[in-house]
Amino acid sequence: MHASRDFIEGLPKVELHLHIEGSLEPELMFELAKRNKVRLPFDSIDEVRDAYNFGNLQDFLDIYYQGMSVLRTEEDFFDLTWAYLRKIAAQNVMHTEIFFDPQGHIERGIEFDTVLNGISRALDDGKRKLGISSFLIMCFLRHLSEEEAYRTLELALPHKDRIRGVGLDSSEVGHPPSEFQGVFSKAREEGFLRVAHAGEEGPPEYIREALDLLKVNRIDHGNRSLEDTVLVQRLSDQRIPLTLCPLSNLKLCVVDDLRNHPIGKMLDLGLRVTINSDDPSYFGGYMNENFIRITEALGLEESHLFLITQNAIEASFLCEVEKNALHRRLQDYRSQRSS
Ligand code: HPA
Ligand code: ZN
Repeated sequence: MHASRDFIEGLPKVELHLHIEGSLEPELMFELAKRNKVRLPFDSIDEVRDAYNFGNLQDFLDIYYQGMSVLRTEEDFFDLTWAYLRKIAAQNVMHTEIFFDPQGHIERGIEFDTVLNGISRALDDGKRKLGISSFLIMCFLRHLSEEEAYRTLELALPHKDRIRGVGLDSSEVGHPPSEFQGVFSKAREEGFLRVAHAGEEGPPEYIREALDLLKVNRIDHGNRSLEDTVLVQRLSDQRIPLTLCPLSNLKLCVVDDLRNHPIGKMLDLGLRVTINSDDPSYFGGYMNENFIRITEALGLEESHLFLITQNAIEASFLCEVEKNALHRRLQDYRSQRSS
């Protein structure tokens, strides 16, 4: 019997792959456009949702960068982040590690501090008022140069207390991790943890580069690792976490059907897989919707979902004491469900 909706909704969860700008719901997009007098190329919320039909990653990115143009003030970044946190509080997410794309804002003339202050103020409130712990991960846009990534890293150096790690996102094919080896090495020297999107559309070679050259702690997506048996063995031996995003993969045509999603095979192989939402506003769902849809498509059982959540706790950037506290909350849920 596959796990029920009710079980998934109550399950305490951990999210490790979420672009905060990708949580911008059309309703808030319109509100902020009005507040900031930004013109949108859409006349209604329905028209926005109708535009969310993507043939590949680039189709999505074009709309994603256009969507973020409404974000201008610290208050906007606060409202965006607070809306996401309220949403996941209702979905029993205990801890979240959030990407942000400062270069997508700086190039529009928005100050780095405006972005960071708005997001982190909401994250502080999230901890205080909703009990959700969080880390921020600053992504470099890989369609831009490594030199620009270095300049972005410089801006982050005074804020190490608020930025836990760096990541690599945007258009994958043609922009291999190797182009960012220098800036990741500098980030590592400065004490930042590291992740990179690899193997979403790009080849398994990009996953190897992310591991060997960028020295990442996790791989974001990693779907295409299954094409390379030597790589799969390594991911298994080294317990490398993969942050998979089922509804994203479906919307961006990385998979043609959730029944063919690689997480099923990866679970059989014992890889350290996790389930995440990526850009929930654009891809049709937050954590619960991703868990429910993949569970129904693959017939995942409660034991699989416990394992996936244990993986996410282990793969998080929390310290051992904090991880143990989350493991206990998961165990409590397990005992409660079986009694
Ligand atoms: N892939 C790459 N870059 C991104 C994504 C994604 O799914 N979402 C936001 N930036
Ligand atoms: Zn992503």
